[in-house]
Amino acid sequence: MNILVTGGAGYIGSHTCVALLEAGHSVIIADNLSNSKEQVVDYVQHISNKDVIFYKVDVTDEVALNEIFSRHLIDGVIHFAGWKAVGESVEKPLMYYMNNLVSTMLLAKVCLLYGVERFVFSSSATVYGDNKVPFKETMDLLPTTNPYGETKVMSERILTDIANANPAFSVSILRYFNPVGAHESGLIGEAPNGIPNNIMPYVTQVAKGKLEKLRVFGNDYPTLDGTGVRDYIHVVDLADGHVAALENLNEGVHTYNLGTGKGTSVLELLKAFEEANDIEIPFDIVDRRPGDIASCFADASKANRELGWTVKRDLIEMCRDAWRFEKNL
Ligand code: WQD
Repeated sequence: MNILVTGGAGYIGSHTCVALLEAGHSVIIADNLSNSKEQVVDYVQHISNKDVIFYKVDVTDEVALNEIFSRHLIDGVIHFAGWKAVGESVEKPLMYYMNNLVSTMLLAKVCLLYGVERFVFSSSATVYGDNKVPFKETMDLLPTTNPYGETKVMSERILTDIANANPAFSVSILRYFNPVGAHESGLIGEAPNGIPNNIMPYVTQVAKGKLEKLRVFGNDYPTLDGTGVRDYIHVVDLADGHVAALENLNEGVHTYNLGTGKGTSVLELLKAFEEANDIEIPFDIVDRRPGDIASCFADASKANRELGWTVKRDLIEMCRDAWRFEKNL
C-alpha cells in the first residue's frame, strides 16, 4: 500500500517508515521539521534501501494537504504529526489544541474528500489518566491533567465520530506507552531539542557526560521501590505494531494498547541500562514531578490477539540501542 506518514521524520514516525518499507509498502512523508531533521528522511532511505517521497509541509495547511492527495493515490494515512511535550502544553494550551486538533481534523477531511479509507492515529497511554493498572482499552478514560493528553482524548473522539458517520472510513487508534530505544543501525533514534523531558534520552546524555546526573522524580510512590513505574517498549516493536494495525484494519474504529504489559520502575530501568552498557549512571532522588502518576503499564492482550503482534525486544536491548544512537549523535 501507498502510505502517507505525517510526522514521518520524527522519532516514532521514522522507525515506522522503515518498518513500512521493509514490509513492502511505499511511503510519503509529510513533516514540517519543527521537531525533526530532514537528514532523518535520508537515513530512512539508507536503512531500508528504498526511496521515499518527502514533503516539508505543516499538516494544518489544508492547501498543502490537498496538493499531496491530488498528486498521489494514497491507500492509508498514519498520523504522527503533533506536539507532545506535556509541560509545554500546560504553558501553551491554545497552541497545542490548535496544532494537534486542526491537523487531525484536516487530515480526516482530506481523506474523506479523496476516498482514503484507512487512518491510523498516534495516541498515548496518557489518555487513561490515573486509572488502575494494567490499562485496558475498555476502561473509562480519566482526566489527563494536561492539554497534550486532552488533545489525544479529543482527537480519538473526533475520529470515532467521523468513522461512525462514514462506514468506509476505518480508524485504528494506537495508545503508546513509553517508547524507548533506537534502530540497531544507530542512525535514527530519539533526539529531543534541548534538555530531554523523557527519562531515556536524559540517561543517555548523562552516560555521554552531556548532563551531570539523573534526577529521579520521587521515591515515595506506592510502587515496589517507590519510584515511578512505566511500560517501556522498544520503538522498533512499536513501529511493527503500526504495520500490523494498518494491515489488519477493517471497517469501524479499533483501539489498541501498544505496550509490553510489564511495568518497570525508574531504578530498575537504571539498573538495566548500567548492565546493558557497563556504565554507571549517577542520580539524586528529588521531589516528584507535578502531573506524574505512580504506575502506568498496559494490558496488551487485545493487540496480541487481534493483530497477531507481540513485542520481541527486552529492556536490555532497549538500553543498548538507545546508547548506541546517543554515541552516534
Ligand atoms: C518516565 C518515568 C518519571 C525523567 C511521557 C508523556 C507521555 C508520553 C511518554 C507522549 C516517570 C521518571 C523522568 C527524569 C525521572 N509522551 N523520570 N527523571 O512521563 O511516563 O510519559 O512520555 O505521548 O505522554 O507523559 O515519560 O520518560 O518523562 O518519565 O525520574 O529526568 O521516569 O517520573 O516515572 P512519562 P518520562
